[in-house]
Amino acid sequence: MTQIPIKDVYYTEPYRPQFHYSPESNWLNDPNGMVYYNGEYHLFYQYHPHGTTWGPMHWGHAVSSDLVSWEHLPVALEPDSIGAIFSGSAVVDWQDTTGFFDGESGLVAIFTHAGTYPDSDRPRQVQSIAYSKDNGRTWQLYEGNPVLSDESKPDFRDPKVFWHTETNRWVMVLATGQTISIYTSPDLKEWTFASEFGENQGFHEGVWECPDLFELPVDGDPSASKWVLLVSVGDNPGFAEGSRTQYFIGEFDGKVFRNENSKDTILWLDYGRDNYAGVSWSDIPHSDSRRVYIGWMSNWKYANLTPSTKWRGAMTLPRTLSLASSEQGIRLVQSPVEELKALRSQSILLKENKVIDQTEVVYMPEANSYELEAEFHIGDIAVFGFSLCTSSTEKTIVGYDVKNEQLFMDRTASGQIGFHEGFAAKHQAVLSPKEGKIKLRIFVDWSSVEVFANDGEVAMTDLIFPDSDSRTVELFTENGKVTLVSLVVHPLQTIWK
Ligand code: FRU
Repeated sequence: MTQIPIKDVYYTEPYRPQFHYSPESNWLNDPNGMVYYNGEYHLFYQYHPHGTTWGPMHWGHAVSSDLVSWEHLPVALEPDSIGAIFSGSAVVDWQDTTGFFDGESGLVAIFTHAGTYPDSDRPRQVQSIAYSKDNGRTWQLYEGNPVLSDESKPDFRDPKVFWHTETNRWVMVLATGQTISIYTSPDLKEWTFASEFGENQGFHEGVWECPDLFELPVDGDPSASKWVLLVSVGDNPGFAEGSRTQYFIGEFDGKVFRNENSKDTILWLDYGRDNYAGVSWSDIPHSDSRRVYIGWMSNWKYANLTPSTKWRGAMTLPRTLSLASSEQGIRLVQSPVEELKALRSQSILLKENKVIDQTEVVYMPEANSYELEAEFHIGDIAVFGFSLCTSSTEKTIVGYDVKNEQLFMDRTASGQIGFHEGFAAKHQAVLSPKEGKIKLRIFVDWSSVEVFANDGEVAMTDLIFPDSDSRTVELFTENGKVTLVSLVVHPLQTIWK
């Protein structure tokens, strides 16, 4: 029998993402404990090492030097007598405030222990810490765990911690049912309640989870910075979109977050269905100063049913977040990290300055693993865009409706859709042309499509499950013509050699 070399089969199962992080096997959900330290980006994640559906949660672990290629590492934290290891964060304790590191620096993970009250099956969620003196390779649980509990709150989870320089304190944002609670600490061990945010603010059709709070310059001007509070909102059978992430913009003084928009303003991070529970990296050096985000590329509505075997779940592309002013107010803008450009190979200018008045095939990739950059000049009241991963029976449409100023993605005929009734859907976002133009940057990776429109003003992330032979890229227009200023394709290399 001839043996197939491992490199020819590794990461080539049906639907396996080629340039997104996914575990070698078994279940993944939220990204956790993202921290940069000693030249490595750490990515921990909710992981069930014994099955392809959600189960007793561990922290899986991977590291990268460039946010593009990832090295899988052994499980970092596993369930113990206090409970399973739910979502949380990690920080560098530069000043050894914990005393764990003999005056040096080291990594501390702050996470939710999800178990039950003693001699009972009543669920209990508490916050615990663990520390590592060897760059995250091994972890010691703190003997004083848990470090924060509150019997009055059944939903009490997903701590995200950062050092607040002005008040010389650690700050924790924690999801507490329909609010975010804020705590402070001098040493990551003793926590004091500071404030609670969220009642009647924003979107409440599901439990609040996985908050993050950080400061960003507005339009690149650090003297005009604002604070951004990310809040993921869990699934609810009555809400077609499933689990989604909203954000608030305002001020933070070390204790209290103040939303500067009206309480009814709802701001979505992503207009697709598959970007959830995302948070940002801690301790990216000042010389870099980016706020880099990653999300879980799935949705609690159907996450346990998606049709992959062997593994289930992947992350979004890492994205740089920034704030930009617009006519509607200050908004979060996101773009894939620059490092991803290293995956481009043999870029091709497919079309330039061409009036499009009918459907035409523009590209036939070898595999559904590429990036498209397109710029359109709008004239007529047309609906135009791309039909991706297309065959005689399958297509995924990314389009723009000029009259309604809407960007949309339609996955109703994208391939396997029958695993959940809510999966086949079309969703949209308001997007105004800029100087008469619409710019689309689209990443296709075997089972996902991520769209960044008008330089990241709108992001749309969706899973799809097409046949690997459904690969044609078509350009279409209905109800009129559109001018294609340019269309470039970058086939993208796999990160799993
Ligand atoms: C969000 C979440 C978190 C929780 C984790 C459990 O997707 O529900 O609130 O900590 O997943 O895996």
